[in-house]
Amino acid sequence: MKKIQRIYEHKDYRYYLNEIKIMEVDRAYCKHDMAHFLDVARIAWIMCLENNLSYDKTWVYACGLLHDIGRGCQYATGEPHEVASTRLAKGILEDVGFEGDEIEAILKAIAGHRNITTSHQQDLEGILYRADKASRACYICGSIETCNWNNDKKNLKIEV
Ligand SMILES: [Fe+2]
Repeated sequence: MKKIQRIYEHKDYRYYLNEIKIMEVDRAYCKHDMAHFLDVARIAWIMCLENNLSYDKTWVYACGLLHDIGRGCQYATGEPHEVASTRLAKGILEDVGFEGDEIEAILKAIAGHRNITTSHQQDLEGILYRADKASRACYICGSIETCNWNNDKKNLKIEV
């Protein structure tokens, strides 16, 4: 998992992470921080194991760590964050040692992680979509009433 540690230590990654932290300091809703990124990575990996999907673990963790990295861009310019995340993740993935096909698969999943049409797919895109949604503890959230998620999207119970 050296590549994943390299992502975490990458100077651009740390910059984007800090930018999001500053912009979300007063945010009442879900944050986009390392806790969320690792929740998504771990849930996605569990989903891979449960569904016999043989993706490399580093691909899954790279998706978790990078899928929301463009959140700061969205706050600053309105650019959809899956688009910004895909753009920002590319250089980081190259720098930490991922190669052609791997980068393509990871970026495709990041680009599609908010796309409802991919939500049921048994591939990395679908897994990332579902892990991202499953990671949020809506049942304990104090801002649930004003959250813009539809009620059918919210996690109102602990699903096992
Ligand atoms: Fe996310």
